Amino acid sequence: MSKDVIIRFENVTKQYDDGPAVLDDVSFEIERGKFYTLLGPSGCGKTTILRLIAGFTEPTKGAIYFNGQKINSVPANKRQVNTVFQDYALFPHLNVFENVAFGLRIKKMKNADIKEKVAEALRFVNLEGYENREIREMSGGQRQRVAIARAIVNEPEVILLDEPLSALDLKLRTEMQYELRELQRRLGITFIFVTHDQEEALAMSDMIFVLNKGKIQQSGTPKDIYDEPINRFVADFIGESNIVPGKMIADCLVEFAGKRFECVDKGFEPNEHVDIVIRPEDLEITSVERGKLQVRVDSLLFRGVHYEICCYDQDGNEWLVHSTKKAEVGEKIGLYFDPEAIHVMRLNETEEEYDRRLEAYSEVSDEK
Ligand SMILES: Nc1ncnc2c1ncn2[C@@H]1O[C@H](COP(=O)(O)OP(=O)(O)O)[C@@H](O)[C@H]1O
Ligand SMILES: [Mg+2]
Repeated sequence: MSKDVIIRFENVTKQYDDGPAVLDDVSFEIERGKFYTLLGPSGCGKTTILRLIAGFTEPTKGAIYFNGQKINSVPANKRQVNTVFQDYALFPHLNVFENVAFGLRIKKMKNADIKEKVAEALRFVNLEGYENREIREMSGGQRQRVAIARAIVNEPEVILLDEPLSALDLKLRTEMQYELRELQRRLGITFIFVTHDQEEALAMSDMIFVLNKGKIQQSGTPKDIYDEPINRFVADFIGESNIVPGKMIADCLVEFAGKRFECVDKGFEPNEHVDIVIRPEDLEITSVERGKLQVRVDSLLFRGVHYEICCYDQDGNEWLVHSTKKAEVGEKIGLYFDPEAIHVMRLNETEEEYDRRLEAYSEVSDEK
């Protein structure tokens, strides 16, 4: 089956005035009906991507396609897109009904139809019966729902959500994560969600684009990105990780922390310098003799389900371990891990370079 692409960015660069490129030659595809997340630190260009999709600004270079049509300079009100803003941008002087009805009134829809559509949108976000409430009488979570109802009532093809949960406390935020995800499934509309919170991105998305400094560092499913980060930035940003310098001796043989280990990674130059990632939950505490690494326990925190244990090896590398087993501070222990737990990354490799390297490698091995 061919992909049903709704939005495509082709080599899009964006500069504000004569400033530096805040998006630098960005290309990606968004498939219809899925939940996408743009994830990255503050200032990396997430909001700029949403503004380009919504039509609030134009690319400096490159092209944006919507359902196959180039839309670079199509005005915002002609696009099948609605945005839920970080601060909700509700009208404080209008009640809930009128806030949600706003877009339909602009379209000059008949009153009876407006009533029906608003009621349906409010039902979708569990706010039935709140029509006459004033915005200032609503809690943070309820305002959030009104903002979402105001977006879905227009039946857009795409909903853009710019850090919509960041103002909520942790408990409400987790609830809203479930609600939003469920809502997207029920509506079947394409959602593009922005966050700087990696756990939120992993929990909610079909696909994640990890951004840094105006470039997409990696795109993939939450599992792809968590299990196979392509560079130090992604590995570091996406979760607590052990990242140490290493060297690929040969295919499936890597050196770090002063020792050689069997691994599953291939396609590097002999003796190429690399970064090694091992997730804290992939390290098992064992005896010094059985351990592949010997480390000393530096500190320990109880995290409810597991202990978070910080250790150092003889080279001074820090190793964070998540384990249900306890260890004593100052104790010397062994750390065991499977070859599959070692993840090897080429230094500062981009997604395209990574793909090219794997392609080139498989061609070479096919020839053999
Ligand atoms: N209207 C603007 N004029 C000039 N620079 C801007 C404007 N909007 C955003 N920027 C700059 O573009 C960069 C990316 O911003 P933004 O897309 O808002 O990032 P994010 O949403 O990831 O935090 C930042 O360095 C920001 O200062
Ligand atoms: Mg932003």
